[in-house]
Amino acid sequence: MASWTRLGDWWQAELAGDDSYEEIVTPLLLEVMRPEPGHTYLDLGCGDGRVMESVVAAGGIAIGLELVPELASLAGRHGPVVVGRLPNLHSIKADSVDGALMVLVVEHLKETDALFAEVARVVRTGGMFALVINHPTWTAPESTPITDEDGEVLWRPGGYFESGGSSEVRAGEHTVTFFHRTVADLLNAAADAGWALEKVVERPHHELVDQVGIPRLMACRWSLIP
Ligand SMILES: C[S@@+](CC[C@H](N)C(=O)[O-])C[C@H]1O[C@@H](n2cnc3c(N)ncnc32)[C@H](O)[C@@H]1O
Repeated sequence: MASWTRLGDWWQAELAGDDSYEEIVTPLLLEVMRPEPGHTYLDLGCGDGRVMESVVAAGGIAIGLELVPELASLAGRHGPVVVGRLPNLHSIKADSVDGALMVLVVEHLKETDALFAEVARVVRTGGMFALVINHPTWTAPESTPITDEDGEVLWRPGGYFESGGSSEVRAGEHTVTFFHRTVADLLNAAADAGWALEKVVERPHHELVDQVGIPRLMACRWSLIP
């Protein structure tokens, strides 16, 4: 397993020539997030800042938090960026932002309780949290599409109920760890920290027409209960 501090170059290379952010990831986030002009949003694990750019284009003010200094520096084109390690948000003041967002990051964190509690601390009461994740159907250990001898794509569910399990996926010369949790565990962790669920959206892969029956991404929006 490699820490994300060694994966920054790999992530940049992954994104080159990949249209999935334009085609599905960013539109999905904006659909659930509904950024409001003039509101301040914290982008947790902001990477190179491509999502911050979309939030700013929608009239929002974006602040990034990122582990990898090189990525944080790129994201700095779209707003201030703090270098830090989630779920720790100690450098962010309580009640200081209108909302938070997190795109394709939570599956790289071992546990979520501290994350939801920390985000609830820094978001003002009534504010929101939007999350886009690899769908738990897809992060379940050993889950994968399988093409049978007739060319039909079937889904091997793997260990969906093995919440807390992890998988190592090749990332250039290294591997990247995906932590799996069931939909129930994710939603219950958010509820325990005071987040009220407002919307959930699930999507198949945007290009693989033979996998339209297989959930690929999930997005959630919560508001912070007064
Ligand atoms: C798959 S990338 C997504 C980047 C960005 N959210 C986007 O959608 O373009 C995962 C990001 O999370 C960051 N990351 C992973 N673990 C982190 C942690 N513990 N604290 C802060 N950032 C982290 C990585 O450095 C990387 O930028």
